[in-house]
Amino acid sequence: MAMSMRGRIILDPRPLNVDVVPDTMLHRKNELRMLELFFKPLLNEIEVGDVSVPIIVSIDGKHGVGKTHLVEYFYLKHLCPQTLTDTNKKIEEIADNMQKLSKYCQKRSKIVRIRVSAYTTNLTVNQLLTIVSNKLRLLIQPRGLAPQEVLNVIFEYLKKYDKYLLLVLDDFQYSLMRKGDEVAKFIVRLYENYEEERRIHTIFIMDNLDTALGYITDIKTKNEMKINHIRLDPYSINEIYDILWYRAQKALYPSAYDDEIIEYIASNVGCENKSNCVGHLGSARVGIEVLLKASLSAEYKGKDRIDFNDVRAALTNILERGEDLLRLDDSLRSLNDHELLFLLAVIKALESSPGSKGGVLIGEAEEEYRRICEALDIEPRKHTQVYTYAKRLSQMGIVKRSVGGKNMRGRSSIISVDIPPDKFEKKIKELLKIRGFHEIDNI
Ligand SMILES: Nc1ncnc2c1ncn2[C@@H]1O[C@H](COP(=O)(O)OP(=O)(O)OP(=O)(O)O)[C@@H](O)[C@H]1O
Ligand SMILES: [Mg+2]
Repeated sequence: MAMSMRGRIILDPRPLNVDVVPDTMLHRKNELRMLELFFKPLLNEIEVGDVSVPIIVSIDGKHGVGKTHLVEYFYLKHLCPQTLTDTNKKIEEIADNMQKLSKYCQKRSKIVRIRVSAYTTNLTVNQLLTIVSNKLRLLIQPRGLAPQEVLNVIFEYLKKYDKYLLLVLDDFQYSLMRKGDEVAKFIVRLYENYEEERRIHTIFIMDNLDTALGYITDIKTKNEMKINHIRLDPYSINEIYDILWYRAQKALYPSAYDDEIIEYIASNVGCENKSNCVGHLGSARVGIEVLLKASLSAEYKGKDRIDFNDVRAALTNILERGEDLLRLDDSLRSLNDHELLFLLAVIKALESSPGSKGGVLIGEAEEEYRRICEALDIEPRKHTQVYTYAKRLSQMGIVKRSVGGKNMRGRSSIISVDIPPDKFEKKIKELLKIRGFHEIDNI
């Protein structure tokens, strides 16, 4: 069948790639300021030469909160600022990817930044030195040399070409977990036998500094890693909203999404309250993944717009990785027959109005519930009883309840679920069949 290659949802998929670090950083102003403060001696003295203190900064925060992004952005802003303003063709081509930009800057900047991920690299001292000498294209065979000898060659190179090295040791918890404090200790004690200028500076990135320190036995290393510390908290709902909105503007056709869709993702991924921000909540990475998945699903189905079903399916797939129904299994079993029938009504109402505002009005669900009861030839419960079902289901975390916004009729409750309705429906029907509602499949 002939099909147009051009979809109506995705304009440019690149901004929805979570590994692409775009040319801007939203929020995180204080954290950026702190990073600038810690590196001030280097940034100032680079003009004058002779930086006398080694700088060591620890950045921590959970999955997807912008740790890598913050450091890349800092590097570009200060050490290669021309990339953020230049209209040079080459820069334009790579401007959607900060990591590529950083590479481009290496040759031009006085500070060379080398980022090593301990997740993808088995990071030992020898491995680190090999990576650095390869990246600097030093003509030595680090394998046959002692670490101190390799280090001397690196220092000589930096001095000769008047360069500084910014080592970014990303996902550093993996090195600590696998190898203990070998690398951390090496970095902290780098200058013990070395009197000359401090040309190597380091940023450690990890998920949790307190846990990381548990792997460190060397007291000096422990202390040094604590001094310059920046913690990135999980993102709030509003912050995720801004980050997603920025990406959507770059990646999607304006007619393919609206603020309610972005708001819906943000309210599911963002952190309502920093103290109970569990699992993937507060992760920009997860938010972007959900937006991408929902966009792809809408595109694949040939729709004009991303709707709430696309988002719900993406949320389940990514947030719960399919474990949600298992988690809910016990709760579902504890519901009485009419609560289950009402839940089925909610799901069916959701399915029949995919474009609705992230959920269905409680009245719509109640109407559907009455229809189901009628079809099964059983007496429906009264209106007030149905409301208590909705309340209980939301208290148990099975459905979500919110109050309708400006576009809704009155300020009625809106009910939604995070699990794809088709899977949820199947599960509820199975439970109802066990309870003797054999005709439920024909509903
Ligand atoms: N403040 C922000 N503004 C714009 N984009 C952001 C911001 N924070 C994070 N992002 C984007 O979210 C995604 C995840 O961020 P990043 O990779 O920096 O997280 P991380 O903390 O390093 O996570 P991990 O621990 O998984 O490595 C990236 O695509 C990044 O560009
Ligand atoms: Mg990272």
